[in-house]
Amino acid sequence: MTSTPRADCRNWDDAPLADLVAHVRSACHRPLAAELEQLTALADRVAARYGDALPMLDVLRETVAGLRAILERHLYREDRQVFSVILNLVTAPDSDTGDRQALAATIAEMTADHDRVIDLLARMRALTSGYEPPDWACPTFRTLYDRLSLVEHGLRLHLHLENDVLFPRALSLIDRRRT
Ligand SMILES: [Fe+2]
Ligand SMILES: [Fe+2]
Repeated sequence: MTSTPRADCRNWDDAPLADLVAHVRSACHRPLAAELEQLTALADRVAARYGDALPMLDVLRETVAGLRAILERHLYREDRQVFSVILNLVTAPDSDTGDRQALAATIAEMTADHDRVIDLLARMRALTSGYEPPDWACPTFRTLYDRLSLVEHGLRLHLHLENDVLFPRALSLIDRRRT
């Protein structure tokens, strides 16, 4: 399984917000959570086997673990404190005002998490020379790099969808409800 969201030509700028939330949950969040668990185990194995010859593998293992730690908490909060509130706003016009204020604050925190994720992806890419394994790398080593590269690709699409489409649409929904 990879964390790369399914290719999707749908224009999410105009789609119902509930459809977009469902898409991010199913195409981005669920596969990513499963992949992160497997990737940390794979990075541990490769570091344990080749870390003496290539010390950067220990740094890579720590970076993958850090990415997983940030993202597991992030996905949990995003699901419960952002997506669920958005769906409430869409379906219940008179929903609690406090929810709306909390949503704007939580979206700001989620966006800050995204910046931290982007920094970790840049660190992974630099450590692995663009996910280019050494000539002597075994199939497990190569699989780790291939899957990290796919996770980076998937996360960049995922964060773009949230930063540039979902969050701005949710914030404009809050603004409209204030008037
Ligand atoms: Fe997300
Ligand atoms: Fe996010």
